[in-house]
Amino acid sequence: MDKIGDFISGQSWLEPVEKGLGAVADALFLKNVRFGEKVRNLFHGTWLGHPLHPVITDIPIGAWSTAAILDVYEVATGDDRFAAGADAAVGIGLIGAAGAALTGLNDWNYTSDKPRRVGALHAMMNIAATTCYLGSWWQRRNSCRSGGLTTGFAGFALSIVGAYLGGHLVYNERIGVNHAPEELPDKFVPVMKESELPENKMCKADADGIPIFVVRRGGRIFALAEKCSHLGGPLAEGELDGETVTCPWHGSKFSIEDGSVLVGPATYAQPCFEVRVRDGQIEVRAPRGMVPNPY
Ligand code: FES
Repeated sequence: MDKIGDFISGQSWLEPVEKGLGAVADALFLKNVRFGEKVRNLFHGTWLGHPLHPVITDIPIGAWSTAAILDVYEVATGDDRFAAGADAAVGIGLIGAAGAALTGLNDWNYTSDKPRRVGALHAMMNIAATTCYLGSWWQRRNSCRSGGLTTGFAGFALSIVGAYLGGHLVYNERIGVNHAPEELPDKFVPVMKESELPENKMCKADADGIPIFVVRRGGRIFALAEKCSHLGGPLAEGELDGETVTCPWHGSKFSIEDGSVLVGPATYAQPCFEVRVRDGQIEVRAPRGMVPNPY
């Protein structure tokens, strides 16, 4: 039961917001054919092995929380000895907010349905918070201290709502988490007959209940989890090109050698199995060195 997500997804007034954000995201990240892919990978966190957006969001949240505490102290005591620190924290938060907006927009552009709408509201709240903090920063620098503190508090309240919705996107809508299976068989299990595996064709199979795909290339056999780590797309229905497979849903590209991500939006590597052939059967197990999930 997801009452908040259901309520937000029923808010049709957010449709133009989605369209506007989508147009900006396309112009920034998709229409730039020359640098688009590199910039997208950079902002997704493909190089980091983890989404970059939640890392960057800690900057404005941390900085603006600091500013709010120092501002409350100033209002409560009349002592402005920490005013310069609060003002600096507001500025640092604004720089972080720019990075959070770019990385978040890039990730959001690959969502659909409910997560897309919740994400649009999350973005709206954060844009409103950033606008307040921009005003606060300007007022603080132009001798309008009480106005700067007030707009700062308003920005902080909006940023809390934005952060809550960001958490909802992760924990309820599972955006940004690893969708590939984590519990892989630690002993070899048979998956298909070797004689049934043609060259250069992805074949679906089942490894102890885990959907996988198996490929033979140049005498070598590769096996990877079938559910894409990004949002669970069916990799076996994607495109096999040399030593890479491209997800049919959003175009993430993985190496079939080791499952590493070559092109985002995926950031987590695709589970890649150890393979052997025994008595004409292809068998797979979790790669050595992988720690089984204890839970
Ligand atoms: S599900 Fe999005 S790239 Fe595979």
